[in-house]
Amino acid sequence: MATVGTEMSMSLDGFIADPSDEVGPLFAWYGNGDVAVPMPDPRWTVRTSEASARHLRDGFTRIGALVAGRRWFDVARGWDGNHPMGVPVFVVTHTAPDGWPRDDAPFTFVTDGIDSAVAQAKAAAGEKLVGVAGANIAQQCLNAGLLDEIVVNLVPVLLGEGIRFFDNLKGTPVELKGPRVIEGTGVTHLHCFSGSLLVEEGVLRSVFVPGASRVFVPCFAFPGHPRVRGGG
Ligand SMILES: NC(=O)c1ccc[n+]([C@@H]2O[C@H](COP(=O)([O-])OP(=O)(O)OC[C@H]3O[C@@H](n4cnc5c(N)ncnc54)[C@H](OP(=O)(O)O)[C@@H]3O)[C@@H](O)[C@H]2O)c1
Repeated sequence: MATVGTEMSMSLDGFIADPSDEVGPLFAWYGNGDVAVPMPDPRWTVRTSEASARHLRDGFTRIGALVAGRRWFDVARGWDGNHPMGVPVFVVTHTAPDGWPRDDAPFTFVTDGIDSAVAQAKAAAGEKLVGVAGANIAQQCLNAGLLDEIVVNLVPVLLGEGIRFFDNLKGTPVELKGPRVIEGTGVTHLHCFSGSLLVEEGVLRSVFVPGASRVFVPCFAFPGHPRVRGGG
């Protein structure tokens, strides 16, 4: 059974984009180091610190499918038909955009809600991981109890306004396990889990309580964003 989670880069004051949908300094860590990390889609290479490179490589090997909000799809202009993670993308929307779906792009437009999108993504991911983003979609999944892991790439910048990662939450407080902390350069990777943790040989393995859904969300909040520079 596939696992599920969400990961995004977030400012110290809780925003994942500014009011114009710009990620700006939130994605600077993808290009602020000497370690080259090719994305699964070879059009993209990240250059970051050794610690963040390890974090990214781990995510790249785990990811099996994505669930995306329609606004993220629109802002990213459909990633030119292939998400940098190189996996199937299930876009949650009320209406499929004009010109889509396309035979040359592994995108499915899901119009019957997040439960359906996550179920379809799990089927596509096999034993791998399902990543969920933007903010609105991630919030709905969190409120529906669909997320087993939340990863925050915390960036020391104060945006003051924009799109909040953790808005519109229900059932708070939501208590999580962790965080497991990886210190990068200009970013701190915080891994929080809904279940117990197991670390083997310095590598995090997620272990969840019996009966619980098992989800780990690798890094899919990548430099595929069209406004990110220096990732190619
Ligand atoms: N910092 C990071 O790491 C990071 C990563 C990824 C994205 N982002 C940013 O995230 C922002 C996008 O997130 P967002 O929260 O604004 O929007 P979003 O979650 O990407 O998309 C929300 C949209 O999805 C559709 N939708 C939501 N729930 C639905 C449902 N139950 N059924 C059918 N359709 C539904 C609606 O669009 P329709 O009504 O039009 O169908 C809704 O307006 C962008 O600014 C992007 O740059 C940041």
